[in-house]
Amino acid sequence: LENGLARTPPMGWMHWERFRCITDCEKYPDECISEQLFKRHANLLVSEGYASAGYEYVIIDDCWLEKDRDNKTNKLVPHLERFPNGLNSLADHIHGKGLKFGLYQDFGTNTCAGYPGVIDHMALDAETFANWDVDYVKLDGCYANISDMAAGYPEFGRLLNRTGRPMVYSCSWPAYQEEEGQVPDYESLKEHCNLWRNWNDIDDSLESVMQIIDYFGKNQDRIQPHAGPGHWNDPDMLILGNYGLSYDQSKLQMAIWAVLAAPLIMSNDLAVVRPEIKEILQNRDIIAVDQDPLGIQGRRVLMKKQIEVWRRPITPVTLQREYSYAIAFVSRRADGAPYSITFKLKELGLLNVDGYNVKDLYASDSNLGLFSSDSLFTTRVNPNGVTFYKFTAL
Ligand code: GLA
Repeated sequence: LENGLARTPPMGWMHWERFRCITDCEKYPDECISEQLFKRHANLLVSEGYASAGYEYVIIDDCWLEKDRDNKTNKLVPHLERFPNGLNSLADHIHGKGLKFGLYQDFGTNTCAGYPGVIDHMALDAETFANWDVDYVKLDGCYANISDMAAGYPEFGRLLNRTGRPMVYSCSWPAYQEEEGQVPDYESLKEHCNLWRNWNDIDDSLESVMQIIDYFGKNQDRIQPHAGPGHWNDPDMLILGNYGLSYDQSKLQMAIWAVLAAPLIMSNDLAVVRPEIKEILQNRDIIAVDQDPLGIQGRRVLMKKQIEVWRRPITPVTLQREYSYAIAFVSRRADGAPYSITFKLKELGLLNVDGYNVKDLYASDSNLGLFSSDSLFTTRVNPNGVTFYKFTAL
């Protein structure tokens, strides 16, 4: 969507994967979906250094509404006990921290958790979002006719645009079509949405992360070409910092999301993310890969001995128009020891005549020196882990 927004993949924090639909604030005061949760995370984004690394949007997902609209005005009503000061006051807090405010709604009659959706009140809700100073809208697709989405999502986007307030527009419509075995119209998505969920929800496990990675690998021919500045494929939230992923698996998700030019939207409790995981989330070199200005999504280019090679063209580009590359080696092996594997650079599609300067993006002593396209490159990958390098074309 050419609305001037999301020129690089959006970065931020969203509550869904970690906090789901926790609404009991008596039992779970620090976790329930309430203004406290979002204020706390806006504060943590800044105080823990995430904001200066680029994480910007604080996004409320499902379960923020009252069960019914206002019976006089039909307006949406944020939950009165959990958001006692209304959303403008929360937006002010978030904006006061130098961050941006995102909000979830649903195209259908109800959100996935059963709260009122936009379908019969699209213009009113678009206005309401603008009046609440929303900067980012996630429009989900539960309780809707899938056949209405191809026209309905662009219509809601038009209504958002008509408010005059710039809002990033995140669409879930292809995920619902894919679930029904339909092929989404990616040209239309590019025109009408800044990002879109392609497929299933992420859960807190390596299995879930790998299923999503496999989906993006298997379907890359029809998905990858559609990413670019202003319009991104969305493999769903970053889950590192929670319960399910080991240290190596956390590195793996971060690296592949960067190769995929994915939105980096964390869903975790930022107060308890361990220092070594925080370091992964704030790795400046990897964030720079994700945010590379060319906006070309990477692809799985090779599989050998259960090591997958994922490659993304990035800047700098030489005068001879050779790209630099970010390359991740993903181990699908579980046979104990780290696995050593060697490639000729040529084999990886790295053909630049003047060679490449290679940097290990996960090592502190990271400069590996010069390699030509005939050089051999050896990497040693931990089981269910990743190694990740930048090959800068000279
Ligand atoms: C769907 C979406 C999730 C989340 C939930 C909320 O499952 O795909 O990302 O928004 O709904 O109910």
